[in-house]
Amino acid sequence: MTQTHFDKSAGEWDQKQRRVELARAIAENIAALPLHDKMKALEYGCGTGLVGLAIAPRIGSLLAMDTSKGMLEVLTGKIKEQGLTNVTPVCLDLTVAACDQRFDLIFSAMTLHHIGETGLILEKFYHLLNDDGILAIADLDREDGSFHSEGAGEKHYGFSREELSETLAGLGFSPVNFKTVHTIRKIDEDGGSRDYPVFLLTAKK
Ligand SMILES: C[S@@+](CC[C@H](N)C(=O)[O-])C[C@H]1O[C@@H](n2cnc3c(N)ncnc32)[C@H](O)[C@@H]1O
Repeated sequence: MTQTHFDKSAGEWDQKQRRVELARAIAENIAALPLHDKMKALEYGCGTGLVGLAIAPRIGSLLAMDTSKGMLEVLTGKIKEQGLTNVTPVCLDLTVAACDQRFDLIFSAMTLHHIGETGLILEKFYHLLNDDGILAIADLDREDGSFHSEGAGEKHYGFSREELSETLAGLGFSPVNFKTVHTIRKIDEDGGSRDYPVFLLTAKK
């Protein structure tokens, strides 16, 4: 269900201003991390590359991973159009498949809540990182389920920062920091509004 949703949405994904603004805020905060031009990075759940393509000029290489062929097709078009040589799109689900590469940076935006086994994917990220590698994940704070009105196959209604910190510390990450990088405001049918804060967690292996 999730992939059908993302495959169908891929063509219009970048047309929603809300998504572009969120990706920009996330990318700005990832760009403020100690990046360098030799860095090998993985973006998990890259979508059309709204975040990844903003980070790519600051690092050595980016493996842009997603499970939606539709999203990856849009990204591939941008890579060709912009003549980028350090971004490689790949269709792979790390929850069921292995990756034999290692990275200095793993980042992910608004994807963790689509993955059922949070502990499993975070453990995969830990093993895929080189020593001293950086993990940066942006997602929603815990919400009441009202964020995804269209039903995008989400597995979590956001996350508790405390619970994520505990899971990451248990895996060996340290230290774990959280920052609110953006707040998505949605207008209800009755004209009222709701705010959904988005955090960026950063941790070191
Ligand atoms: C909400 S979109 C975010 C896309 C992009 N990061 C952005 O900020 O615009 C979530 C993305 O996660 C991908 N996704 C969902 N489940 C996945 C999984 N198990 N492994 C990798 N990617 C997944 C979807 O195909 C989609 O591109």
